Amino acid sequence: MTPWTLELPDPDATRRLGRALGQALRPGLVVALEGDLGAGKTALAKAAIAAAGGVDEDDVVSPTFIIAAEYPGAPEVLHVDAYRLESPGAFVDLGFGALEEGPRAVLIEWADRIAAALPGDRLTVRLAHADPARRATLEAGGPASAAALEAVRAVV
Ligand SMILES: Nc1ncnc2c1ncn2[C@@H]1O[C@H](COP(=O)(O)OP(=O)(O)OP(=O)(O)O)[C@@H](O)[C@H]1O
Ligand SMILES: [Mg+2]
Repeated sequence: MTPWTLELPDPDATRRLGRALGQALRPGLVVALEGDLGAGKTALAKAAIAAAGGVDEDDVVSPTFIIAAEYPGAPEVLHVDAYRLESPGAFVDLGFGALEEGPRAVLIEWADRIAAALPGDRLTVRLAHADPARRATLEAGGPASAAALEAVRAVV
């Protein structure tokens, strides 16, 4: 499926994309957040988790050290940071099971590190530095993520 690229001129633009993503979350949707250190993965995830309705943005913490956190919302969201995971197997060992079967939506920072443990039908969001701004490229890997991508495009 064709990737979609958009410019994020400032942190507010990242937040807007995050909110749109949060509204498009569904149980079992897996969102792979990729991009270098400081690219904006956590900023995007915070806005998305808050938009899913369960918490304020300020209550979402970076999962770099805790690896995974669950948030209430509609749907509930599992927020993972794979930076410190050594392999896809290390993620499987955490016991979250088949992510695409729900009951939560899943946002994964540094998802490229554990790609082999993720379903093919996932929405990949690549964030790149375009100093001082950012650029986002969204790509769907199957029907569920394609529907989410369409929903995001409709509101950003
Ligand atoms: N579109 C943007 N333009 C400029 N700065 C931005 C933009 N989006 C986010 N930022 C800023 O980038 C910084 C780093 O963001 P963030 O912590 O979310 O990155 P990250 O990808 O999660 O990094 P890490 O891999 O280290 O966890 C924040 O200060 C954030 O405000
Ligand atoms: Mg981060």
